[in-house]
This record gives sequence, structure tokens and C-alpha cells, in this order.
Amino acid sequence: SEDMYLLYHGLRVPKETHSLESLKFAEDFTFKDDDVVAVTYPKAGTIWMQEILPLVLNGGDLKPIQSIPNWDRVPWLEEKRLSVVVDQLESPRAMVTHFPYHLMPPSFHTSKAKVIYVMRNPKDIMVSSYFFHQMAVFLEDPGTFDEFMEKFLEGRVMFGKWTDHVKGWRHTDLGDRIMYITYEEMVQDLPAALRRISDFLDRNLSEEAIQKIAEYCSFKTMKSNNMSNFSLVPKIYMDSDKSPFLRKGVAGDWKNHFSSEQLARCTSVIRKELEGESFSLPWS
Ligand code: PPS
Repeated sequence: SEDMYLLYHGLRVPKETHSLESLKFAEDFTFKDDDVVAVTYPKAGTIWMQEILPLVLNGGDLKPIQSIPNWDRVPWLEEKRLSVVVDQLESPRAMVTHFPYHLMPPSFHTSKAKVIYVMRNPKDIMVSSYFFHQMAVFLEDPGTFDEFMEKFLEGRVMFGKWTDHVKGWRHTDLGDRIMYITYEEMVQDLPAALRRISDFLDRNLSEEAIQKIAEYCSFKTMKSNNMSNFSLVPKIYMDSDKSPFLRKGVAGDWKNHFSSEQLARCTSVIRKELEGESFSLPWS
């Protein structure tokens, strides 16, 4: 199953969506000062940001989210589609990436591009990722949840270890170019999260615009948006009968899947790896 991945600087990336060329394209990519990048560890809220960013950047204009598939509308920096659509992206461009901080290309560092780092409870990421591995044909069979958890905790999964990703993006020299937000915060109060994002991006959105955007970025509306719910992807790649991409959209689903032993194991590993860190995370 390992041949489903390319190894890029020691990082597993799925071959289906990445190639040596796409990774080279990312390395050579020239960022513009008004670019916006949402950074996520897989399953932390990527496609949610692919909906939010165009709406916030364009004052609630629905055209992008209703006419362009999410992967072309807000492309992944590292994936094959970027080189295909890059010339069609309108400024300010929005992108997403799963890259760890140390693999961001040189021009990212010299530009003034803004970054939104989205974090999610790693226990919920594990559950979401487990179901995603079952439905995405181009990812390895995850085995039992117990087996998958071990792989996840050891970082033998796509884009490596979650704690490394978070630590890297927490210790940057990006200053006020980066903002941090959590998936849980967005679930709890989406309009408030949208206000934070729009302030960070210097968009002065009316309360009416915020409410409208919140409606279109809700789990329910996204699930029925064919440009965002992956229904355009053939079943032979993603089998939504096994599990839909927009699966549950809640915080705390891990409670339905973790045994008390698994919870103890997971908590102790993650706590140890984050010991002594200057930042705190809202999950124990
Ligand atoms: S990926 O494969 O990395 O791009 O996946 P990613 O988009 O990061 O994560 C998928 C999870 O995000 C949930 N999601 C949402 N939750 C709440 N509201 C909205 N609008 C929303 N959009 C996406 C999606 O359902 C996956 O989480 P789970 O827990 O599996 O439902």
C-alpha cells in the first residue's frame, strides 16, 4: 500500500493528486503579496476554507462557489491542479496547503502573503481521516481503527505527524502575517469566526454579508453544493456510499469511536509531544 504515496522530503503524499512535477511547481511557485493561504493538516477544515475564502474576499459574491469546483477555485499549492488553473486565478488569489512550514517555498517567505492556520482536535481528525481512507480509493486501506491510530500517532500517514505540523506552524517568523483559528471555533460560532477572518484580511464586511456567507458555508449548504461536495469525482476514486466527504461536520465525534484505552494512549502520546510548548491548545 506504500506505493500509493510519493516520499517528498520524507513526507508521504498521495500519488493520485501529487507528482514530482507538481511538487517542483510548488517549490518554484511565486507568491504575490495579496495571496491568501489556508494551511491545514488533512481533515482539519480545508474544503471549508475553500468555501469561506472566496466569499470573504469577494464580499459574499456567490459566483465562485457556485461555478468552480473547490479544487480549482482554491487550489492546493502542492497538487497537480495548480499548474493547470494558476493562470485563471483572480487576485486576490486564495490557496490551501497541507505542507509543513519548513517545506513552504522560498517566495512564500519573502512575500507578504497572509496565512490562516486551521487547527482541529486531533482525535476528530483521526476519525475523519479513518473514514476518508475507507472511501478514497487512492489512499491505503486504514485497517482497524486501532491500527490506524497507531499509524497516525507515529506519523506514518499522509503529510506526517500531526504534532510536527502544528509545532512547525506555531513557531514561525511570520509575525502578523499568520492567524490561528480552530475548526471547533468555526463550528461553535461561524459568524464570529468569519468576522475574525474578514478583519484579518482587511475586508470590511457588513453584518448582512457575514450572515449570508455563514449560510453558504454551513455544513448543510455545502453538502448540497455540487461544486464543493465532491459529487463531481467519479465513484471509482471516492466512494461516497462508504462515507461522504462531508461526513458529519461536528466537533467531538471521536467520543463515538474511541475506547477508553485508545483515549488514554492518544492523550498521553500527544501530551508528551507537546510538553513544554509555549502555546496551548483547547483540547486536553
Ligand atoms: S481534506 O481531505 O484534508 O481536504 O479534508 P478537510 O476538508 O480538511 O476535512 C474534512 C472535514 O471537514 C468537515 N467539513 C465541515 N464541517 C463543518 N462545517 C462545514 N461547512 C464543513 N465542511 C467540511 C468534513 O465534514 C470533514 O469532517 P468529518 O468529521 O469527517 O465530517
